[in-house]
Amino acid sequence: MMSDQPGIAPERVGLDVERAAGTLRAGGLVAFPTETVYGLGADAENVDAVERVFAVKGRPSTHPLIVHLSGARQLPDWVAEVPDAARRVADRFWPGPVTLVLRRGRRVPRAVTGGLETVALRVPDHPVARALLTAFGGGVAAPSANRFGSVSPTAAAHVGDGLGADVDYVLDGGPCAVGVESTIVDLTGAPAILRPGGVTREDLERALGCSVPVRARSAVRVPGQHPSHYAPRARVVLVEPGQVIGHAEYLAAQGRRVGVLLPPEFAGGAGACAGQRVIAVPDSGARYARRLFEFLRDFDRHECEVVVASVPTPDGLGLAIADRLRRAAGSRSQTAATPGCSAVAE
Ligand code: TXA
Ligand code: MG
Repeated sequence: MMSDQPGIAPERVGLDVERAAGTLRAGGLVAFPTETVYGLGADAENVDAVERVFAVKGRPSTHPLIVHLSGARQLPDWVAEVPDAARRVADRFWPGPVTLVLRRGRRVPRAVTGGLETVALRVPDHPVARALLTAFGGGVAAPSANRFGSVSPTAAAHVGDGLGADVDYVLDGGPCAVGVESTIVDLTGAPAILRPGGVTREDLERALGCSVPVRARSAVRVPGQHPSHYAPRARVVLVEPGQVIGHAEYLAAQGRRVGVLLPPEFAGGAGACAGQRVIAVPDSGARYARRLFEFLRDFDRHECEVVVASVPTPDGLGLAIADRLRRAAGSRSQTAATPGCSAVAE
């Protein structure tokens, strides 16, 4: 609640959608809830406001933003053309956690797309986001409402913790139900996933009737593909599931403050992790995704120096969870040093 948001004055937090829409119209920045994570929104057609988003986030201006719309019927206003595949994905998943990359319409300022000829668009599925987008009427350019490279906010209080007084108004819509960002699908050619997220690859493939590969590195710069992203302060080390407890014990024995993401199949071994901050991972992908970023924040709050985790199998939401954990580990991951224990992240 408000008292948990040290950086933001209490009068700047609430559920006043008209005030939020007026703030956007005046060129201000509004943090708002979506079903995935909180976004930091600006009028997509106001270049000064968009530039302020980049400045507040500390994000390089070459990394494009997603434009949020109130409904699929607005899509033709923002793109050069709507391919059949886009129509199919929008019909099936919007409002929802999937973002389409399409050829940019003239309405989209280059400040939003980082100079690219494509634009990313999505219709979020959260009653507060939809009310805001409907009241505002235009497109809202919004990245996740966190500083560049850090953990995305899944509750209003996280926005205040990260961005403080730089936000003009925060719409508090409670915790986010999906918890990881939208799936980004490039539909400018053969469909490809640029970032796994809240809509699974399996569901997309069913909707499109073809296989949809995950493109490891795209020609465009996607911040989610920065080597260390979604990262807590603690160093994240990824090992095989059966090695989590052993590696955590090894680090704890060296005097490290250790956080442990305990895989469900090893939950019985929690007792072995004495003195460590242990979080048992939910055994459903949806529940794990919903809480993943909250878990990473929890380890920081408990001043863990290192977090030991394993990546789930890459099916369903496991693909997005594995992606975020690998990026959280990023270049700060190191080869696990327990005998016979190999790190799975670079
Ligand atoms: O769930 C979400 O997608 C959240 C909520 C707020 O909607 N937003 C979000 O935004 O995660 P952000 O800025 O943190 O990540 C957006 C991603 C970035 O990786 C960006 O590079 C990519 O979308 N992106 C935006 N425009 C693109 C484009 N034209 N081509 C390829 N990638 C693009
Ligand atoms: Mg982000």
